[in-house]
Amino acid sequence: MSRAKNLVLIGLMGVGKTSVGKHLAQNLGWKFLDTDHVLEERCGADIPWIFDIEGEAGFRRRETEVLEDLCQYKNTVIATGGGIVLSEHNRSLLKTCGTVIYLAATPAQLYARVAHDTHRPLLQVENPEEVLAKLLAQREPLYKEVADLVIPSEGSRSAKYMADRVADRLGKLK
Ligand code: S3P
Repeated sequence: MSRAKNLVLIGLMGVGKTSVGKHLAQNLGWKFLDTDHVLEERCGADIPWIFDIEGEAGFRRRETEVLEDLCQYKNTVIATGGGIVLSEHNRSLLKTCGTVIYLAATPAQLYARVAHDTHRPLLQVENPEEVLAKLLAQREPLYKEVADLVIPSEGSRSAKYMADRVADRLGKLK
């Protein structure tokens, strides 16, 4: 594997980065961290509140600071927020941070997972599936630019199954 320092999971909201990441970390005996959770802990406030008070720009600034810090770690599985690839600076960081795994899914698959979610400010709109489709069109090239591996979501497969698939594919990269 070219960049074995950490494993970094990227992809849109609802694809399962956190749950797949926890299984992967458990299998490897590695630490697990999630940029959104670290950010909320550091800030002492949740993401909807940060978006309300500081706007998306404030959230993105904090997200970059967290990514800069987490990239100093080793042997860690890092799940990232879906918009982490938007800035060029973050994309450069991701490329040095570890092996980057893009968990890919269709807007319909994602929507099925986040339909009742109230914790994601960008999806608190009338038609979240349409927003997911737009975000996917905008971000997919960016995910692919930084990814070492692309793992397509397989419908309603469990997080454990997906983590095993990722581990298989990583084994073949070695
Ligand atoms: C965002 C995704 C969220 C969170 C924030 C913004 C995005 O993380 O960082 O609500 O821009 O796609 P998840 O991908 O973990 O839901």
